[in-house]
Amino acid sequence: MVANVLAAAGAILLVTPFSPALFDSCLLASYYGNYNDGQTTNSVFMPDAACLESWTAQALASSAFIAEATQDIQQLVWVEHKAVDPSLMTATSSFRNEFDGFLQRLSTPKRVLGRDQEVLAVPENKMGYELLYQTPTAALLSVSHGTARTIDTILPRFWKSSLVPSTAVGFVPVPVDAVKHVKRVLSTLRFNPEVAAVVDSISVPQMINDIRFLTGEDGVSGIMSRHSFAEGSRTAASWLKARFEDTGATCELQPFLLGFAPNVVCAYPPIVDTNATVLLSAHYDSRGSFGSTRAPGGDDDGSGTMAILAIARTIKRKGVKFHSNVQLVAFAGEEQGLLGSKAYARKLREEDANITVMIQADMLAYRAAGEPPQLGLPETIGTPEVTQLVANVSAIYSPELRVGYTAACCSDHQSFHEQGFPATQVFERAGPIADPMYHNSGDLSDREGYDFDQVKSIAKVQLATLLHSAGYELSQ
Ligand SMILES: *[C@@H]1O[C@H](CO)[C@@H](O)[C@H](O)[C@H]1NC(C)=O
Ligand SMILES: *[C@@H]1O[C@H](CO)[C@@H](O)[C@H](O)[C@H]1NC(C)=O
Ligand SMILES: *[C@@H]1O[C@H](CO)[C@@H](O)[C@H](O)[C@H]1NC(C)=O
Ligand SMILES: [Zn+2]
Repeated sequence: MVANVLAAAGAILLVTPFSPALFDSCLLASYYGNYNDGQTTNSVFMPDAACLESWTAQALASSAFIAEATQDIQQLVWVEHKAVDPSLMTATSSFRNEFDGFLQRLSTPKRVLGRDQEVLAVPENKMGYELLYQTPTAALLSVSHGTARTIDTILPRFWKSSLVPSTAVGFVPVPVDAVKHVKRVLSTLRFNPEVAAVVDSISVPQMINDIRFLTGEDGVSGIMSRHSFAEGSRTAASWLKARFEDTGATCELQPFLLGFAPNVVCAYPPIVDTNATVLLSAHYDSRGSFGSTRAPGGDDDGSGTMAILAIARTIKRKGVKFHSNVQLVAFAGEEQGLLGSKAYARKLREEDANITVMIQADMLAYRAAGEPPQLGLPETIGTPEVTQLVANVSAIYSPELRVGYTAACCSDHQSFHEQGFPATQVFERAGPIADPMYHNSGDLSDREGYDFDQVKSIAKVQLATLLHSAGYELSQ
C-alpha cells in the first residue's frame, strides 16, 4: 500500500523570513504558510528545482534556509517555543534539552491511555522523523500522518506544533477596499453612551458559571479535557451550540477533519440587506500537560470562549439587532496548528465572503501579580487598521486596560489574515505569555491570577468594536 505522500524524497524545503515581496516570484505557487519561532514570522515554500534556481539569484534569497528531504514526506510539522515571560523559564530549562527530549519521545512508540482522552496515544513511528530545519526555538519536521495527529501531546511545555497543509496555499493580501471600510469606522469612532450601556452589562457571574462548565470545575459537565480528540470537546461543542442558540443565533457544528471536534459556527441575521460580516471568535479546544488526561483550558482558550458567549448573552439581553451579518465562532483544532480556522477561512474565501472585521480572542484571563489589567494586540500577524480600531475602542470603553503589543503570536486570526480578511487578536498581556498554567493541566478558572474583571474589560472591547463596525439597533 502506498502511503499518502505529500512529496517524494528529494523535495526542496525553503524557510525564509516573511515578506510580501516573496510573493512577487515563482515561489507563490509553492507557499505553505507562515510559521513563528517566538520572534520572527517565517514563510515555508516547497519550490521545484527550476523555481529555486531562478529565485536564489534574488537578493532576498540570502536570508533563506534551503533543505532537501532524504525521505518521502507524509506530513510536515512546524514546532516552536512560544514567546513566554522569562519568569516562567526555570534555571534548568534549556530549549536544546527540551527539544532533544521531544525528539526522543517522537521515535519511541508509547501509549498513554486515559479515561477521557483515548487518542492520547503516540502511534508506532515506523517512518521515523526527519529534521529539515532547526533554530534554537523552532523546527520543521517530516513525520508520519499518525505521529502528526498526536504530536502536540508529546511536546514539552511552551512548545507548540502546527501541521503544514497538504497542498500549497495561496497568499491573499488584505484588499484595499476592505481596509477602507475599517478606516471609515475608525474615522467616525467616538464615545456612544448606548454602546457603553450595552457593554457594561456583560455579566461576570454568568461568565463564572460558563467557564466552570467548560473546564469541568462545576463537577456536572463531566468535561475532563477539550483536546480536539477528547470526548469532552464534543460535549463542549454541543453545549456551546445550544447556549448560542438560546441567544437567537443560528448555529452549525461544522466538521473540518476526521477525528477532530467540529467548529461551532453561529450567525445572527442582519436587519438590512447586506453581505458585510463581522466575525468574533475564540478556540474552545485545549491542551494539557504531557502525560495527563486533564486539559481544562480555563485560560487557553476557555476565557476567549466564555467572552464570546458572554457577548452572545448580552446581545440577547439587550435585544441588539445588527446592520451587518454577525458571526460568533468557536474553533477546534487550534492547538494542532489553527486547523479549524484554516478550514473555515478557506471556505469563506471560496464563497467570496465579505468579512469586514475579524477578531480572535485567545487567553484573556491571566494577570500577573502587581500588573495592571491589560490588552495585548499582535505585533506582526494582523491588519494594522483593525488593531488600531480595537486599541481606540479600548481607550474609549475600557480605559482601565493598559494596551500594548505582544509577540505571543498567532491564534486563529492568522488563518483569516492569510486569506486576505481584515483581522486581529486580543490577548491578556502587552508582552509575552506569563500564565504559569499555559498548556498545563492546572489551567483552571479558580486560581490565583485568573481575573474575570480583565476578561470582562476585554469582552467590552470586543462587543463595542462589533457594535461600532456592524451598526446596530436596540429593541429593549
Ligand atoms: C456585496 O454587496 C455589495 C453591495 O451591495 C456588492 O457590490 C458586492 O458585489 C457584494 N459582494 C458579494 C461577494 O456578493
Ligand atoms: C463589504 O461590506 C462593506 C460594508 O458594507 C462594503 O463597504 C464593501 O463594499 C463590501 N465589500 C465587498 C467586496 O462586497
Ligand atoms: C486612536 O488612537 C490614535 C493613536 O493613539 C489617536 O491618535 C487617535 O486620536 C485615536 N482616535 C480616536 C477616534 O480615538
Ligand atoms: Zn490558545
